Amino acid sequence: MLQEKKRLLTGLQPSGQLHIGNYFGALKPFLEMYSSYESFLMVVDYHALTTVKDPRILRENIIDVVRNYLAIGIDPKQAIFFQQSDVHEHTELAWIFECLVSVPFLMQAHAYKDKVAKGIEANAGLFNYPMLMAADILLYDTEIVPVGADQRQHVEYTREAAAKFNTTFGKTFSEPQEHTQDTVAIVPGIDGKKMSKSYGNTIPLFAERSEIMDVVMRIVTDSAGDFPEHVYAIHKLYKTEEELKPLYEENRSNYKKLKEILAEDIDAFIAPFREKNKSIDEQEVKRVLKEGAQKAQAIASKKMEQVRKKIGVTL
Ligand code: ADP
Ligand code: TRP
Repeated sequence: MLQEKKRLLTGLQPSGQLHIGNYFGALKPFLEMYSSYESFLMVVDYHALTTVKDPRILRENIIDVVRNYLAIGIDPKQAIFFQQSDVHEHTELAWIFECLVSVPFLMQAHAYKDKVAKGIEANAGLFNYPMLMAADILLYDTEIVPVGADQRQHVEYTREAAAKFNTTFGKTFSEPQEHTQDTVAIVPGIDGKKMSKSYGNTIPLFAERSEIMDVVMRIVTDSAGDFPEHVYAIHKLYKTEEELKPLYEENRSNYKKLKEILAEDIDAFIAPFREKNKSIDEQEVKRVLKEGAQKAQAIASKKMEQVRKKIGVTL
């Protein structure tokens, strides 16, 4: 008999441009694993609302993130893509969890504490963020949650919400496990620091050729040395060290030439993604999301029926 696939769910932030750090650190490993699971990819638009207050930007970013995932090769037949806001059960279940956990518990969440420390307005949505995430995960009896290391604590909070509910109302939810990519090295940005959109040091994943040339020329090099280490660090993503060694020997001190070769290599890698990305129109994205929402909704509403009975609101 065919073994049933385990269920996996992850949240996609509709937060603008992906970069090559995201690709090598998160997207590529995800591409290698998602089809072995029953995968749910959810655009977390209500989570994004805690920070994005421009409807035009939010709308564009929702479309873009789905288009980008399709462009890197996620097959919508092998995964359920949907928008969080299309399945109302998420906010409904989040409320129930919020009634079970304490204020001091939520105040310990790193993501909340960090944002407050940075002076970002602590709206109540930001504070309750982990309980919406718990609802996202638990509604689908998810077993595996692929997340970046910074989200590990939120999955712990999810287990805590499940346990609280189970002890209060009887066993309803199973506890999910996070899946983080520990072995992937941090991709450096053009200044040698971790590539991150918050540092403005990225190489965008769907960049045009001219943009790639432009950012690569801006990679920081040390004028005193004869080896451009930040150029090399990025080059290693595209060529083996055996391939790079003679190239860097031959062009020792010729930073411009080495940067040109790197830009060519990045462009050759990005071009197919970029073309695929352009070929996916908004209607296709909407179709994928609509179909996904129906499938997700069917599962979520069944689970909520059980939850409503357990808590005593179903008469
Ligand atoms: P950013 O730092 O640009 O805001 P995110 O925090 O949105 O990136 O990261 C999304 C995913 O991409 C996470 O799983 C994270 O681990 C991965 N990621 C981001 N930047 C890098 C990087 N420089 N190297 C490796 N992985 C990265
Ligand atoms: N908080 C996650 C992040 O910032 C996004 C997210 C929301 C998520 N809901 C989720 C991730 C459910 C995994 C599962 O990246």
